[in-house]
Amino acid sequence: MRRLAPRLVGLAPVRAALSRGPLAPVIVDRFVAGPAEADAVTAVAGLADLGLRATVDRLGEGVTSPEGAGAAVDAYRRLLDLAERAGSAAGLDVSVKLSALGQAVPRDGRKVSYENAAEIAACAAAVGATVTLDMEDHTTTDATLDTVVDLRRDFPTVGAVLQAQLRRTEADCRDLAREGSRVRLCKGAYREPVAVAYQERQEVSDAYARCLEILLSAPGYPMIATHDPALLAVAAGAVERHGRAPEGYEYQLLYGVRPAEQRRLAGRGATVRVYVPYGPDSLPYLTRRMVERPANLLFAVRALGERRGGAERVRSPRPGRSQS
Ligand code: FDA
Repeated sequence: MRRLAPRLVGLAPVRAALSRGPLAPVIVDRFVAGPAEADAVTAVAGLADLGLRATVDRLGEGVTSPEGAGAAVDAYRRLLDLAERAGSAAGLDVSVKLSALGQAVPRDGRKVSYENAAEIAACAAAVGATVTLDMEDHTTTDATLDTVVDLRRDFPTVGAVLQAQLRRTEADCRDLAREGSRVRLCKGAYREPVAVAYQERQEVSDAYARCLEILLSAPGYPMIATHDPALLAVAAGAVERHGRAPEGYEYQLLYGVRPAEQRRLAGRGATVRVYVPYGPDSLPYLTRRMVERPANLLFAVRALGERRGGAERVRSPRPGRSQS
């Protein structure tokens, strides 16, 4: 199913079902806060009630015009403004994809996306929030890390993301593991060629564990982004071995994924941040979630069947009210 899923979600009818067909609300409700900034701010407040922090991502990637990139900046500005008025901006993080900010704009992409990211970072800093630059496919890794370095001159709290599946990442961890450096470690959500990335699940997990060791044994602020029970156990062991205080690192999990684990970690005193996506353009994000866990597609189909059959309404597993 894991091999089949990428092909399945590549099919036009499946994509149509995910984006506007009857499956859409079942899947979108589970993984996405909603289409508008207000939905994201409501989700952040709900998470705060459970003792969970948030990093909010405005969905939309692969923008190729400066206007499209400007619209993304405006959306982040509205989001931060709304969060501030709701009293939830301080300590909030926003996750930003440079491809949404114009990285692929012909000729000036690097400059356009840097300036847009700097503008969002300034808005965030003004309300006590931070920014993390999401990592996209390997062709953008160098440009994204260079942008992190540039942004940190004015905004030292800007976070970087490293993907354990890339063969280069242990070296990147060593470079970035410095005082005050916020680094999110994830497995990597993009299909990458063998020349640059580990292909086997176990190889990726082993690389993740090595990277964790580098980040947790050095100064800096590691952000441990995984739902994998085995890696969460490795992380807990390394945290203890290196005597890391709860305010010196955090766990990060995706909205709607293993919500009971999110609460369990927070209940044990760890800092837990939930990645909250919102926005009207949720298809690429949802596609990645289906590919990494095809069972989600089956979950949606089953839920749809139950709805149609008039069975008890299937409740989306949002934090606080469901199984993980
Ligand atoms: P794995 O996929 O092995 O999952 C382990 C277990 O977690 C599963 O068995 C299941 O129980 C549960 N699970 C995982 N995914 C699930 C899903 N979609 N639905 C339901 N259950 C699921 N990637 C990237 O390339 N660039 C980035 O910037 C980011 N940013 C990011 C932020 C945060 C906060 C997280 C948690 C993840 C990312 N990722 C990412 C995605 C990451 O690279 C990876 O694709 C996913 O986290 C899935 O990998 P896991 O480590 O969770 O393990």
